[in-house]
Amino acid sequence: MEVLVICLLLCVSGAYAYTDGRIRVFSDDFLFGAATSAYQVEGAWDSDGKGESIWDRFLHEHPKLIPDGRNGDVACDSYHNYERDVEMLRELGVDHYRFSISWPRILPGGFSNKINKKGLEYYDKLIDELLKYNIKPMITLYHFDLPQTLQDLGGWANPLSVQWFEEYAKVVFEQFAHKVPYWITINQPSFICVEGYGGKENAPGIGSSGIGDYMCIKNVMLAHAKVYRLYEMEYKEKFKGSVGISLSLNWADPFTNSTENVQAADLYRDFTIGLYMNPIWSKDGDFPRTVKDLILERSKAQGYRHSRLPVLNPDEITLLKGSADFLGVNHYTTFLVKATDQVYPNPSMDDDIGVELTYRPEWKTSQSKWLRSAPYGIYKLCLHLNKVYDYPTMIITEHGWSTKKLLKDNSRVKNMREFFKALLLGIEDGARVKGYTAWSLMDNVEWAAGTSERFGLYEVDFESTEKTRAPRVSALVYKRIIEKRFVEPDWKPDSLNIAITKSKANSKEL
Ligand code: BGC
Repeated sequence: MEVLVICLLLCVSGAYAYTDGRIRVFSDDFLFGAATSAYQVEGAWDSDGKGESIWDRFLHEHPKLIPDGRNGDVACDSYHNYERDVEMLRELGVDHYRFSISWPRILPGGFSNKINKKGLEYYDKLIDELLKYNIKPMITLYHFDLPQTLQDLGGWANPLSVQWFEEYAKVVFEQFAHKVPYWITINQPSFICVEGYGGKENAPGIGSSGIGDYMCIKNVMLAHAKVYRLYEMEYKEKFKGSVGISLSLNWADPFTNSTENVQAADLYRDFTIGLYMNPIWSKDGDFPRTVKDLILERSKAQGYRHSRLPVLNPDEITLLKGSADFLGVNHYTTFLVKATDQVYPNPSMDDDIGVELTYRPEWKTSQSKWLRSAPYGIYKLCLHLNKVYDYPTMIITEHGWSTKKLLKDNSRVKNMREFFKALLLGIEDGARVKGYTAWSLMDNVEWAAGTSERFGLYEVDFESTEKTRAPRVSALVYKRIIEKRFVEPDWKPDSLNIAITKSKANSKEL
């Protein structure tokens, strides 16, 4: 009877009913949040003693890559506008804010011999402002912006980068571990390494695919594990925080059911999911056997004496195994994978994987070339992770959609609702997803795409000196979902006014 009443109440209020007629809701302890990263929002690129990062250098040197010419020098000027940022989080009524710390803002030369007090002060003020309103800080230690001084020494291709990262993390933990419940060591090793060291269009733009990217992957993964162990040894007992890593986990299905395409999709997932998941979450640790064997065999055939993928030794495997309290899932889209016999002139990761990616024509396009709407992907990803990695504890640390500059962002609303519907099914089928973090709280500098692709729940007027922020329809819809804990397919806000809901976000203040 009680169930029926609840069902009726929910139905009346317009909750989305699935084909089985049932309604799914988020539990009361499910965390909702929003995310940004330092380079993308802070600005103040050389203020108050901050050092140069690889993204500062890269976009200063390659302005022509940026379609609208806007780099991160000023961005949303969150360095000065952080109180407004927290106000927006209060308007949304979120539980947590995921932001990153800029390594060169804290250690301008990369090492801990010189600590920039002003940099620490900025993050201290931001954290206190969040805590004042009962919003939990979720800090990413590294979101793509390496100090340029360390890049000059080889960056993530240098095995010493593991030690450099640990040194930096210790400075941050010493300052903030007592105030911060959630830590993410590294955001997306795949982007850092495959795009930055393999490719040329993202910092540092090394262009060493099939070699530099693999060297980077090994070091970034070890750097993560070292910092996880550092927290575990020195801070965990006292402060009880959780430490995870955020991986780019898009879904991939075979283009057709042909054996070649099914195998191509399996291999593609081993390269894009397994390479990063296996060392931490699989029973035997290490990189996937398929990937190791394939690269070794090809390397030998190409005349190399060793595999282009560096080996993890037994101590490194032990260090990595189990080195996460949660898996941060950054999920945006789904690809269809086709086998291909395209021949590449030189060894490269694309050549190693040997597939072609495509989409279903009916998947709606966003403002970003790579991003199409296929929300069922999160459901399949959940099932895959449960099966292969034995039900890992997860937090969605990024999910979002890009548009042009516009306030009525119906395509983002649709993508978000459909994603939540699929996610709720994944949770019902056993996925241990503890929270969701929208990318992004506001429009920001989308790396080399500048501000031509807008991911914000809030629109930012980059022309204005104040970098004025205004809520989009999606901000109001997200707020409503957080309040109701279920998805309503037809709900529309009366206006674009958004107000702080006192009872929740302000609970400590009252
Ligand atoms: C990155 C963000 C980026 C977003 C949209 C994620 O992979 O972590 O920094 O803005 O994708 O492209």
